[in-house]
Amino acid sequence: MNKHVKYIRKQARKHTEWFSNCLPMIASENIISPAAREMMLSDFQDKYAEGPVGDRYYEGNKYVDNVERRVKKLARDIFGVDYADVRPLSGTNANQAVLMALGGPNKKITAPDVSDGAHISSARFGSVGFRGMEPKTYPFDVDEMNLDLEGTKKLIRDVEPDIALFGRSVFLFPPPLDELKDVFEEVGCKVWYDGAHVLGLIAAGKFQNPLEEGVDVMTGSTHKTLPGPQKGVVLSNPEDEEMEEKLSAGAFPGVLSNHHLHSVAALGVALAEQRKFGEKYAEQIVSNAKALGQALYERNIEVLCVDKGFTQSHTLAVDVEEHGGGETLAEKLEEANIIANKNLMPWDDVESAGEPSGLRFGVQALTRLGMKENEMDEVAELIKKVVVDDAKPSKVKEDVKTLREDFDKIHYCFDEGEKANKHWQIL
Ligand SMILES: Cc1ncc(COP(=O)(O)O)c(C=O)c1O
Repeated sequence: MNKHVKYIRKQARKHTEWFSNCLPMIASENIISPAAREMMLSDFQDKYAEGPVGDRYYEGNKYVDNVERRVKKLARDIFGVDYADVRPLSGTNANQAVLMALGGPNKKITAPDVSDGAHISSARFGSVGFRGMEPKTYPFDVDEMNLDLEGTKKLIRDVEPDIALFGRSVFLFPPPLDELKDVFEEVGCKVWYDGAHVLGLIAAGKFQNPLEEGVDVMTGSTHKTLPGPQKGVVLSNPEDEEMEEKLSAGAFPGVLSNHHLHSVAALGVALAEQRKFGEKYAEQIVSNAKALGQALYERNIEVLCVDKGFTQSHTLAVDVEEHGGGETLAEKLEEANIIANKNLMPWDDVESAGEPSGLRFGVQALTRLGMKENEMDEVAELIKKVVVDDAKPSKVKEDVKTLREDFDKIHYCFDEGEKANKHWQIL
């Protein structure tokens, strides 16, 4: 075998073996189901399908069209919208499509700040800036880990934005959309909700549904709490045909050419699974997140928002400044096979991104592996050993491996009970 191929296969196998012994706790990741993964390996991967369904620029797309039609319908039904675009390649790409449609160098936008947990695509140095816009950021209430309502009202009135953007990557609590409704109307702005992190929770009715609260458009990644392939969606109830056309053209030809048809098919499988299993899954995610928050708190780890039940989503934010800082601890946890990430806390400035005060934990993948509240207590104990007790990560790793032995199968999907890493046995 070619030495490069051999090398790459070996890395993939090693990664898989490693992750089958890890606690995957990065809040933006998940584990795709076997049925969805099968579609990622399908021959749809080899095709191009530019242009509208049923009227493509290239031939050979009759089955591709059937799939895309079905996946769009599933998305429309699940989110209760008239318009669902399943072409964006990722959450960032979905955001770019909306910026292409509604933004521009002469437009004004308000958004959450990156140090308050917003995603880089909403920053001046990310996609918003690339569209020639300078975001004005909302004031933040650190105790509430949410927007400062009165300050946000004032900012929107002062700026009179064309677009008011909401949604974050450290997304513990829903923004006060309802309370801001009058201000949106007063100013006449479009309201855009980036639901990348909480898309699966929204689909299941377990988090604020911004579409019911009147936002104009929602974007999202389909591989976080919605456990599908790496992809993105744009969802809307467009006010008229012009808005629908703008959104569609924002995606193609705006910011993408081909839209990776194997992942459209995989997304369809994930959406079908979402419809059948999503509610139970989302319920368990939120319950696990709260249980982990409580278990960490009881072990003297400073989880934010104790008084608010820690979170309403899959995510916890933890201040670890006194234990050595986010980067140091994320690396130690990795040595112990606990995979999480360092994170800015609202009081850090963006320049301290190298060694921020915090860690972010997500429980959606652990939940997918079948863990429940009792296991959250065990997970908290393992985290505490590394963070508070300064135990040797190599020792903790052995306990992590033992815990994972009983949780190596994928749940809340059609092939429930299949091993999480079975498909890699060919390597
Ligand atoms: C709020 C938010 N928006 C957008 C994205 C980008 O999504 P993707 O990584 O799918 O491009 C993320 C990623 O984590 C996110 O947290």
